[in-house]
Amino acid sequence: MAHRSPKDFFRPLAVGAPAPLTEIPARPSRAIHFFDPSNEKMAAKVPAMVGTVDVLLGNLEDAIKADNKVAAREGLVRIAGDTDGLGGPDATTQLWTRINSLDSPWALDDLTTLVPAIGHKLDVVMVPKVQGPEDIHYVDRILAQLEAKAGLDRPILVHAILETARGMANVEEICGASPRMQGLSLGPADLAADRRMKTTRVGGGHPGYLVRQDPPLNELGVADVDATRATYQQDLWHYTIARMVDACATHGIYPYYGPFGDITDVVACEDQFRNAFLLGCVGTWSLHPKQIAIATKVFSPSVEDVRHARRVVAAMGDGTGAVMLDGKMEDDASLKQCLVMVELAEQLAAIDPDLKAAYDEIEVTP
Ligand code: GLV
Ligand code: MG
Repeated sequence: MAHRSPKDFFRPLAVGAPAPLTEIPARPSRAIHFFDPSNEKMAAKVPAMVGTVDVLLGNLEDAIKADNKVAAREGLVRIAGDTDGLGGPDATTQLWTRINSLDSPWALDDLTTLVPAIGHKLDVVMVPKVQGPEDIHYVDRILAQLEAKAGLDRPILVHAILETARGMANVEEICGASPRMQGLSLGPADLAADRRMKTTRVGGGHPGYLVRQDPPLNELGVADVDATRATYQQDLWHYTIARMVDACATHGIYPYYGPFGDITDVVACEDQFRNAFLLGCVGTWSLHPKQIAIATKVFSPSVEDVRHARRVVAAMGDGTGAVMLDGKMEDDASLKQCLVMVELAEQLAAIDPDLKAAYDEIEVTP
């Protein structure tokens, strides 16, 4: 039998390790801001960012040069130790890390260094290039041993990056591989390479991936394929994100977009993030401080959406039956859609005073 019995699933994997959570807390994580802990200039900015972003992630994997791997790991230990209000169950800014991939010479040292030193502050470990549930099982066991040894009283959660073809094929099993699973992010760069897609961009669309309007007919009734025709760029990542969202929702964990590499194109970045938000994602990565503001805005329901949602909730009374609002039918199902929005707004308002003020001003008229 490949799986543990359901009755054993929520038992710790090492004697003395904290009990697994039966539910993943819905902590706001609209922007996961990546920083390089080996870069002293960047590290110096971290304390001032606490409270301004939902998640700060010390990146140890790609984008950190091989020669800097140890400095990054040690830098993260130092930063976590020195920075008040960063990481742990009560902090408004969570602390995550992205460890090196499991086929690198660094991943094990990342875990054995970080957990004893800063495990009490580390909320989530992001594991890259995950291929299947066996990768999660490996990390799960090691974390349990290290947590037991360090005497931690709550489990460190695990987040997988979906960035291999095999990982995509195993996405549901990955989500259900451990009670530690917190969520998934799309890794469009590695995924494109692994699938042998032909985009060389880090996330976002591609002008070659499009649909074209039908050709008009000429005077002889023949299709004029050379005529000017409208084209519409399509979203290369639609299938992957939608699959990721379904897998996460099935397992009660959270889906995220990933990196948007064109830092200058703030408009397309916002569009791509919004598509992910509309499809069900709760957040995304930020690779530059200006992407924090974009992500925080996009992944917070707008005042208009919250007003409408509250209006439907008020109009639907006990939640059954149907009502007409502004010529539109609302019923039990559309009420549930609205409750998604209202609940998210409440979670975010609890940590974001500006948002709370904006939502508090909403007046619901029947
Ligand atoms: C992120 O890690 C990516 O590969 O896109
Ligand atoms: Mg990657």
